[in-house]
Amino acid sequence: RPRVLSGIQPTAGSFHLGNYLGAIRQWVALQETHDAFYCVVDLHAITVPQDPAELRANSRLSAAQLLAAGLDPERCTLFVQSQVPEHAQLAWVMNCLTGFGEAARMTQFKDKSAKQGSDQTSVGLFTYPILQVADILLYQADQVPVGEDQRQHLELTRDLAHRFNTRFGDTFTMPNPYIPKATAKIVDLQEPTVKMSKSASTPKGIVSLLDEPKASAKKVKSAVTDAGSVIAFDEANQPGVSNLLTILSALTDTPVEDLVRGYDGKLYGALKTDVADALVEFVTPFRARTQELLDDPETLDAILAKGAEKARAVASETLALAYDRVGFLPAK
Ligand code: TYM
Repeated sequence: RPRVLSGIQPTAGSFHLGNYLGAIRQWVALQETHDAFYCVVDLHAITVPQDPAELRANSRLSAAQLLAAGLDPERCTLFVQSQVPEHAQLAWVMNCLTGFGEAARMTQFKDKSAKQGSDQTSVGLFTYPILQVADILLYQADQVPVGEDQRQHLELTRDLAHRFNTRFGDTFTMPNPYIPKATAKIVDLQEPTVKMSKSASTPKGIVSLLDEPKASAKKVKSAVTDAGSVIAFDEANQPGVSNLLTILSALTDTPVEDLVRGYDGKLYGALKTDVADALVEFVTPFRARTQELLDDPETLDAILAKGAEKARAVASETLALAYDRVGFLPAK
């Protein structure tokens, strides 16, 4: 079986619909066909200040949501990054292979750091993408299911894999991005030209999966749509309507063309109602399942401990090989 690896940050509160449709939904599908590793990246989270108690709670909350969304610990390996020390260990080597200017060209870093002074920006934030490289290469992943915003980090991963392999001999699998075009970029409901994102969007523009279903339905119904009244999929001229069609298509597994045909002669309101209904149908059981998992933290922690153990078995082997190639003395 080909291998997949992906990660998600333990954000406060709840994942949003962009995370779900852009990434998590693919993770659930890929566990059936791939040897799948998924991690909650708490090491990445501390690149910006975190309250310790909240970070711990958010890591559990993230894991609970991933399980509620359909990840099955019998079918995939779900773990928390900090419980697998090899990630930080390989990241050091990768830091030493990365040019300062190369890291400085990462657009997510440039955007985030531009919003704060340079003394507020941690060196960890600067090396964030390089830790991501280590996440991926440790598992010899063939594919990395992510949204469009991660493409540049995956290019860096390929560059560093190639560089390491050329310098030290073939060691790492060359990973490919897995970014299904239809859901690669879910946009903000209020500002349909920017991606849905906790940091960039207003609360009204983001659908948080754990919000009251009624509140989410309301957000959908007050989504910004476009001038005109014809329901058509045209991202350039009708980004709001196209986003709603994308969301409905993904949630109901119906091709966009079929949806568009069905809305012939109907108004935007009909589309919004259908998106709101599909969303409520998805989030209602999702919230209940997440809550159940959170109510039993021992079981949740046991799932994660087992996941970390499975992950370490793979990660430690790759790390030992990489350390040997670099010229480190054997650990024992
Ligand atoms: P993060 O936590 O920001 O987002 C998790 C996943 O959700 C996708 N995503 C979206 N997809 C479509 N439309 C959107 N509006 C949208 N918003 C978010 C992201 O592309 C991502 O796939 N750096 C990564 C985490 C990471 C990682 C890794 C990913 C760490 N190590 C190794 C893959 C492999 C991040 O911050 O994702």
